[in-house]
Amino acid sequence: MKSPHSLIRPLVHDLHAYVPGEQPKIKGLIKLNTNENPYPPSPRMLKAVKAAVDGRLRLYPNPTAQALREKLAKLHGCGPENIIIGNGSDEVLALAVRAFVEPVAAEVTRRKPATSASSSRPRQIVQYFHPSYSLYPVLADIHGAMKNAVPLNANFTLPSTAELKKGGVWDFNAALTFVTTPNAPSGCGYAASELEKLCRAMKGVIVLDEAYVDFARENAMQLALKYPHVLVARTFSKAYSLCFQRVGYFVGHPELIAALDKIRDSYNVNGLGQVAAVATLEDLKYYRANFRKIVATREKLTRSLTLLGFCVLPSQTNFILAKPPGNVLPASRRKVQRRQDAGGTLTAKEWLQKLREKKILVRWFNYPEVKDYLRITIGAPQEAAALVKAAKAILQTL
Ligand SMILES: Cc1ncc(COP(=O)(O)O)c(C=O)c1O
Repeated sequence: MKSPHSLIRPLVHDLHAYVPGEQPKIKGLIKLNTNENPYPPSPRMLKAVKAAVDGRLRLYPNPTAQALREKLAKLHGCGPENIIIGNGSDEVLALAVRAFVEPVAAEVTRRKPATSASSSRPRQIVQYFHPSYSLYPVLADIHGAMKNAVPLNANFTLPSTAELKKGGVWDFNAALTFVTTPNAPSGCGYAASELEKLCRAMKGVIVLDEAYVDFARENAMQLALKYPHVLVARTFSKAYSLCFQRVGYFVGHPELIAALDKIRDSYNVNGLGQVAAVATLEDLKYYRANFRKIVATREKLTRSLTLLGFCVLPSQTNFILAKPPGNVLPASRRKVQRRQDAGGTLTAKEWLQKLREKKILVRWFNYPEVKDYLRITIGAPQEAAALVKAAKAILQTL
């Protein structure tokens, strides 16, 4: 008998899987680590889902999520043929890699791991800025594609197209490029005009991943309807309080959408997810009021943490990236009695632990550009207040 180990593809052996944020079940935990929405879905939506839970669960759902695509088409001013729905936007991102990128032959991948791009093989390249959504490199690895991770500017803004051309690292011919906009994990928003310049310069498919766009000043949806190589990804998870049901989608040219449609599972979107998403779109007023509340909490939390000496990046999302106070106390903040005189500071990783001890869970990423920061989801006002209180208490112990 062969060992189970020998039955697994080498590529899979070598794979580093995507690491999702923790979902611990700790009583009283304030969970600010996975960018979930603090507000529940609308009562109308819940009613629609409950009404759908009956004997019809024995039937397959609509294979193309037709009713949902029609509703979304009205919302975005396009046709249902411009839309494909996925089991979360993660699924449509994965479909894009499979549909548009050639895998490197297995033997070549083994000899030379697919870590850096070579512009002589643009059809095999998945390209993205770094840091951005950490799923993109995992999807490239699963597919056996090459990766081209290009640094954002130091303040997480987008390098201009001219800078990218000069830098010589960005591949304008890459088969597939992902841009997280607004960016995660920095929260930095990008102007549609800036994105349009980049899209116009690209020869391959470009996905504008707008998972957090409902909390931003502008969106770039019109680019997906203007340019045949641009796809915009959206999700019901964040702004629409629907992580549990897993519904996301792409908007784009019918030919790209048809290609993705060919390779998806026949019933990729579960029936209750379809019902939930349709009912969500019938109650947008409820959700838009929540966006405003979240943005107001974000701004207030930013001010409070800044006063405590945190460096908080301006955010256009439902989270902030905040660097805990270091040793230098800005003159403008000397009023706030802090622990600097006592000498101690904590690393961001230590802050993660200290906050956890106070039953507040935030996220910390162990890569150089952001390892000094905490990513904090914007919760309800009382959760944000609890975080500020905990931060003050921690600072007082130092
Ligand atoms: C930038 C970005 N895109 C896509 C997703 C995936 O969302 P979904 O829940 O729709 O799969 C996430 C989730 O964290 C994200 O941060």
